[in-house]
Amino acid sequence: MNRTMPEWLKDAVFYEIYPQSYQDSNGDGIGDIPGMTSRLPYIKSLGCNAIWLNPLFDSPFKDAGYDVRDYKKVAPRYGTNEDLYHFFDEAHKLGMHVFLDLVPGHTSEEHPWFLESGKAARNEYSDRYIWTDFWLYGIPNHPYIGGECERNGVYMLNFFKCQPALNYGFAKIDYPWQQRPEDPDPMATREAMRDVCRFWLGHGCDGFRVDMADSLVKEDEGKKKTGEVWQDILGSLRKEFPQAAFVSEWSNPAQSLLGASFDMDFYLDHPGNGYNTLVRDYETKGGDHSYFAKDRGGDIERFLADYLPKYEKTAGEGYISFLTGNHDTPRISYHLDRRETALAYALFATLPGVPFLYYGDEIGMRYQSELPTKEGGYTRTGSRTPMQWSAGKNAGFSDGDEKDLYLPVDADYEKVNVAAEEADPGSLLHTVRDLLALRHGEKELQADGSFAVVYEKKEDPLFVYRRGGILLALNPSGEEKTLPAGTDGTPLYTIGTLTKQDGNLVLGPQSFAALRS
Ligand code: GLC
Ligand code: CA
Repeated sequence: MNRTMPEWLKDAVFYEIYPQSYQDSNGDGIGDIPGMTSRLPYIKSLGCNAIWLNPLFDSPFKDAGYDVRDYKKVAPRYGTNEDLYHFFDEAHKLGMHVFLDLVPGHTSEEHPWFLESGKAARNEYSDRYIWTDFWLYGIPNHPYIGGECERNGVYMLNFFKCQPALNYGFAKIDYPWQQRPEDPDPMATREAMRDVCRFWLGHGCDGFRVDMADSLVKEDEGKKKTGEVWQDILGSLRKEFPQAAFVSEWSNPAQSLLGASFDMDFYLDHPGNGYNTLVRDYETKGGDHSYFAKDRGGDIERFLADYLPKYEKTAGEGYISFLTGNHDTPRISYHLDRRETALAYALFATLPGVPFLYYGDEIGMRYQSELPTKEGGYTRTGSRTPMQWSAGKNAGFSDGDEKDLYLPVDADYEKVNVAAEEADPGSLLHTVRDLLALRHGEKELQADGSFAVVYEKKEDPLFVYRRGGILLALNPSGEEKTLPAGTDGTPLYTIGTLTKQDGNLVLGPQSFAALRS
């Protein structure tokens, strides 16, 4: 590392929880903080030693909580601030770290800052958001709303209609109503966000997943100005909280890690990018050639062509984070079966950087493509259904009435649940545990260990790579594959089979092996 990173990140594996759907403790059908607290030992038992909680702040929930009404108050449906402080404490006792979700680019339209800023009379918050100076003037290149407030102007949106954009200034000034990032109002917005972070870090939170982190400064080609804002915010927070860490929803590690000084950047699912070619290639035209989809003609080259330059440019300056999925994407099980998924997890668990596991992906929960939208989820709703704990009432998610559940439990819950998979040594849950145990046991497999490609070839499913003294081989195809001549070592872990034939190591169909060599 050229940069000093928080030590704990080096062996961190995160677990993302969508609080609404994890564990209901009081029978109202909505997951809550006491419920999550009771499940901490389970999360730890998977090998996850860090947690990211989706926003659980006071909100009208028009975008599932990404429309924040009060950054410093836990939404009553999840419990109280004290419940959250207690959650931090209990997690820390188990040696785990907790990230909250910071939404810095916009608030809810019901946030008191926004209500003030919409008033005709000038006040402290008038320019906390981006407004034009005349009701009839639109905002080029950006969505905006008029006709809602007293004020003589229209305001910019950052995402949904309910999410007005906070004002961090413009990199390029074309109109009198635009401000520079260093002007007093954008500086006040920056200060307000720093204050929110300080508040939670001061109460025991260990860092933040930062929503739409690239969206702050507008008309910011190359994101240089947005990067400067983050360097300022994160730089000062790190002085006070040296072990705090930050992961960006950006998906451009050069901009995020080098330009904005984030510790980690998500490798998000964008149609056609390297991550997408591994597990979600069905989103692009021309059929599903996902690398992990058995015998569909995928190879690792498309992934490496995108990933390697990103990795090489940023290695030592922060981490690229692989995700099994998140609350915005169809679950990984949507197009991959269990064996294909297990092999994908083997790769994610053995690449450099800091991996993230989405709740329920450890048991292969399904994506519910037919669910109507809930709280602004739209097609994302199907990845947000209640966690399946057992074959009992409401899958063990809630004691409440079925009709009150946040979302319906998937009909397959009697088969697919934590209790059933705990009892089955061949389950996906056990594979996840084994893979994470492998990673925790070998420093070379963790965030900072080196990474080198040993074998890859166009149209060949075999992929062999090295992490220090450990050789890893993946064969997602339905046929045996002979490893390159001279490859040898002591097996540390395998999925499927690894045999020796005529002096060569042979990896069975749909197999993975880690060897010390
Ligand atoms: C991010 C979140 C998503 C949310 C959006 C607006 O993409 O992951 O769930 O809707 O930002 O905040
Ligand atoms: Ca509840």
